[in-house]
This record gives sequence, C-alpha cells and structure tokens, in this order.
Amino acid sequence: MSIKFKNVDYVYAPGTPFQTQGLSNISFEIKDGSFVAIAGQTGSGKSTLMQHFDGLLLPSKGSITIANQTITVDTPNKVLKEIRKKVGLVFQFPENQLFEETVLKDVMFGPLNFGFSEEKAKEQAIRWIEKVGLPEETMSKSPFELSGGQMRRVAIAGVMAYEPDILCLDEPAAGLDPEGQKQIFDIFKNYQKLGHTVILISHNMDDISKYADDMLVLEQGHMIKHASPKEVFSDTDWVKKHYLDEPAPSKLARSLQKVGFHFSSMPLTVESLVEEISKELRAKGGN
Ligand SMILES: Nc1ncnc2c1ncn2[C@@H]1O[C@H](COP(=O)(O)OP(=O)(O)OP(=O)(O)O)[C@@H](O)[C@H]1O
Ligand SMILES: [Mg+2]
Repeated sequence: MSIKFKNVDYVYAPGTPFQTQGLSNISFEIKDGSFVAIAGQTGSGKSTLMQHFDGLLLPSKGSITIANQTITVDTPNKVLKEIRKKVGLVFQFPENQLFEETVLKDVMFGPLNFGFSEEKAKEQAIRWIEKVGLPEETMSKSPFELSGGQMRRVAIAGVMAYEPDILCLDEPAAGLDPEGQKQIFDIFKNYQKLGHTVILISHNMDDISKYADDMLVLEQGHMIKHASPKEVFSDTDWVKKHYLDEPAPSKLARSLQKVGFHFSSMPLTVESLVEEISKELRAKGGN
C-alpha cells in the first residue's frame, strides 16, 4: 500500500496571530513494504507530517493518496476511519494515546474499534502486550501508574494489536533502555518483513542507518532530501550543513581513514564497519 504526497502544505491556526506554516509543498512517494525514516531538527515538521498519514491532520493544500484513498482538506470522517484501520500511528508522547482503566482494555480498544470480536481483540491484545515485553501482571494495571518506557510499550501494543498495513512511529524508542530499544526495533523490522510498511521518526542516525531503506529529511517544513541512508550519509558536508548527526560507525571509520585505513564504501552499521576493518587488516597482513 503505497503513500503519495502531492504538493502538501499544512498551516496551524490559519488566520490567527498564531498562524504557523507546519509543512510547505511536500511531495514524495513511499513504496509499499518499505521501512522509511523521517529525520530533521526539532520543529522541522516531522510530527506534523506523520499526523497526515492517518488523517489526524488534513492538508491545508495539496493531496495525499494512502491505502487507495485520497485525503484532502474536505475528506469526510467515514473515509478517515477506513484509513485509520489501515494506518496505525504511535504518538510522540504515549500518554496522549492512553485512556482506558486498564492496560488490557487500552490495548483492546483499537481492535474493537476496527471490528474485531471481543474474543479476537483480547487474544490480539494479550499477544502484543507480551510481544512488546510487558510482564503479564501489567495487564490489570492502570496505564497511568506505569513508567514512561512501559507506557510507550502499551501505546505500541495498542496500535500493533490491530495489525495495520502501515505502521507509523513517532520517536518510539524514547524512554526505553538500550535493550528495550533493540527489542522493539527488532519487532518493527520483523513487522516489515511480513510485508507491512513502517515509517519511523527518529533523531538517532544509528537506528535509521540500521533499519531504514529510505530517509526523508525535513527542514523548516520543507522536504530537503529523499534518499537511502547510504546516499545521505555519504555526503558528509551536506549532513553537517543540515545539522544531522552521523551514524557512529561512519564517524569511527572517518577517524580510521585519517590514520591510513582505506574503506571501499563508508560503513553505516557496526557489522559493516567490522567487515571493512577485517578486509583492510587482511589486505595489510598480506603485504
Ligand atoms: N499544535 C500546534 N499549534 C501551532 N503550531 C504547532 C503545533 N504543533 C506544532 N507546531 C509548529 O509546527 C512546527 C513543526 O512542529 P513539529 O511538532 O511537527 O516538529 P517536529 O519535527 O516533530 O519536532 P520534534 O523533533 O521536536 O518533535 C513547529 O514550528 C511547531 O512550533
Ligand atoms: Mg515531533
């Protein structure tokens, strides 16, 4: 299920003194089944863009085609509900997403809302609560007595429980410890392998290089790049100019270059860095 944005503008509070241009003339297409990361500085428009994927915000201008439906400023609620069944969105601040008395009820809400039977909704909820790494006793707790990281896992389970075709995640790793982060990223990657599209907002360039096939970079509401992480991070000057961080393995590789190492291509992940270093050491050893 591809996603297409055509000349999309979004204006917050139009016609008021608080009017802000959230997005300006955004056009791109995301391929079905890909893992796409959205990057950019704070306030560049990432969350604004993401809230257009499930019609939470409607474009002030332009159109979006998603799940074979077109979203414009006039799209009726009935159509938006159909889109929301196919596009799940995990918010930047999970506490904005939770509202039921218990974790189990909260996670069942999505499946029930989209037509699953009570029995199936419960089965899905229990399955995903466990998959996101929450202990069984969490199910009967109030979502509001949990830690930030646990709340985030509940919010993720609540969306994944109805298995949307397109999964949108706004900084899903915030508040999780490193082991927890790896665990949920592996869940997202496996979800993509099942044929779903995954869209991720992240400030962490290591995660983006490791998991994403493609990257959209925003700056002050404009899209300034749509390319693979490899292409983006191979242009170090461009990366610096637009205040993006570099993946840690690339930084290390560039330091090694300064002391005489040679890399056939710039490594973006720890695995590719290790491979490149071994190659170089073997070559040196052979001399
Ligand atoms: N509800 C709102 N009302 C008015 N302006 C808003 C609102 N939400 C966001 N904005 C403005 O829109 C712009 C983009 O904000 P957005 O939240 O999309 O940025 P972001 O890239 O997600 O930032 P961050 O990395 O901090 O999450 C900013 O200038 C912000 O001040
Ligand atoms: Mg944001």
